[in-house]
Amino acid sequence: MSSSIGENGAEFLIVANRLPVDLERLPDGTQRWKHSPGGLVSALEPFLRTRSGAWVGWPGIADAEVEAFEEDGLQLHPVALSAAEVADYYEGFSNGTLWPLYHDVVAPPAFHRHWWNAYVRVNQRFADVTAKVAAHGATVWVQDYQLQLVPAMLRELRPDLRIGFFLHIPFPPVELFMQLPWRTEIIRGLLGADLVGFHRPGGAQNFLWLARRLVGLEPSRGAVGVRTRPGVVQVGDRTVRVGAFPISIDSAGLDALARDKEVQKHAKQIREDLGNPKKILLGVDRLDYTKGIDVRLRALHELLADGRVDPADVTMIQLATPSRERVEHYKQMRGEIEQAVGRINGEFSTVGHPVVHYLHQSVDKRELTAFMSAADVMVVTPVRDGMNLVCKEYVATRYDLGGALVLSEFAGAAAELTSAFLVNPHDLDGVKNALESALTLDPAEGRRRMRALRRQVLTHDVDRWARSFLDALGTQPAI
Ligand code: ADP
Ligand code: F6P
Repeated sequence: MSSSIGENGAEFLIVANRLPVDLERLPDGTQRWKHSPGGLVSALEPFLRTRSGAWVGWPGIADAEVEAFEEDGLQLHPVALSAAEVADYYEGFSNGTLWPLYHDVVAPPAFHRHWWNAYVRVNQRFADVTAKVAAHGATVWVQDYQLQLVPAMLRELRPDLRIGFFLHIPFPPVELFMQLPWRTEIIRGLLGADLVGFHRPGGAQNFLWLARRLVGLEPSRGAVGVRTRPGVVQVGDRTVRVGAFPISIDSAGLDALARDKEVQKHAKQIREDLGNPKKILLGVDRLDYTKGIDVRLRALHELLADGRVDPADVTMIQLATPSRERVEHYKQMRGEIEQAVGRINGEFSTVGHPVVHYLHQSVDKRELTAFMSAADVMVVTPVRDGMNLVCKEYVATRYDLGGALVLSEFAGAAAELTSAFLVNPHDLDGVKNALESALTLDPAEGRRRMRALRRQVLTHDVDRWARSFLDALGTQPAI
């Protein structure tokens, strides 16, 4: 990596909590960069790499004083956070308050003033760094719930900029949002953008309602469409647009990777290593309590106990990327998941053949593609998820029209992937029935479903998402 930053600043910038790479300190005292976790980076990195842009973000560990640097044509501008700021802004307000509040309060959010104060301070720092490195008239695209105050802060510093904001997680029902003591500040922060984007029209509608109720504005009243008919709200002499833009993946890239001979060989090897079970179930998630990993384990446990699934025939692989490990709800959930895995294996495994293979690890893209190619049933059961990219990734890898997808109705992706086995994750019998149907799926019916799923995923990729957002923002970075 060299360190060359353009003289006049960047014309197109992504501002996100994390950089696309995380700094890792190794036990021997050395440091290295590794790929950052999560759907935001998976989606935006391939998009930005095809354009010359800059990325402002945190390097992922506390007290890392890193100079701006260039990596593969991307300018990276690190924003340092102290250990106290990681605890209060990232683990606290972002992931102890906003994350559960925006995910239907599936865990109780905590409201602490010192967390909020840190959130304001860190958002200001992101705005300050961005203001310094953006060229005159540049386009700045601010990402996600950790940085909702940045649009207004940045506009104050740099009125010349074109500012977009996209929320990668659900925007909650207004009754839940109104619990937040700092609700008006958040809405005002977002209104600093020229375009505020959500995955689903419902999120955009909720935001427009709050702009009226909390800020006293007069937003448009028409229904917001998907990629069409954005809502409009006048803020002083500015017009802010509010729209729905469902995010996606690099579908063609993943399709090509899945066709790679080495990847297919690896997929075959995975099957052999598992002892050639008749069916492989796969779960791939950050280890997060919203993902419903417990739901699928409970359903599998009952299917085995009922005798509807034979442990000799079926193996489940659960890949779980470590995530937010110091946040209390995550610690507790990890214990529960590991206990559930232990219980299934204790009751139904034989020596050398565990029913559930649980890897608390992140795997690289090629390996992940091989796992997806090997899996007969992909199980995606979040109790709430803004979009969920894993299900789209699975579909993109199945060029053979094999496999089946079990998908929660409460993932944003369910609105697009209607040929999946859609389930209500709160209805355990329904999840069990869907798993059984997917495991016993007639191949012709499976191909019909997968063909329909692939038509959707291959024609609605991340490039289309980014282009539709940037078109609505009224700007396109140079390609
Ligand atoms: P979120 O953004 O909440 O983590 P998404 O499903 O939208 O959820 O995106 C998760 C991304 O992280 C996907 O690109 C997925 O492939 C990747 N991922 C999740 N778990 C793993 C894992 N164990 N190893 C490698 N990649 C993973
Ligand atoms: O939108 C989901 C998201 O929170 C992203 O903002 C984030 O990059 C990703 O999940 C991973 O979470 P974290 O950055 O907290 O590890």
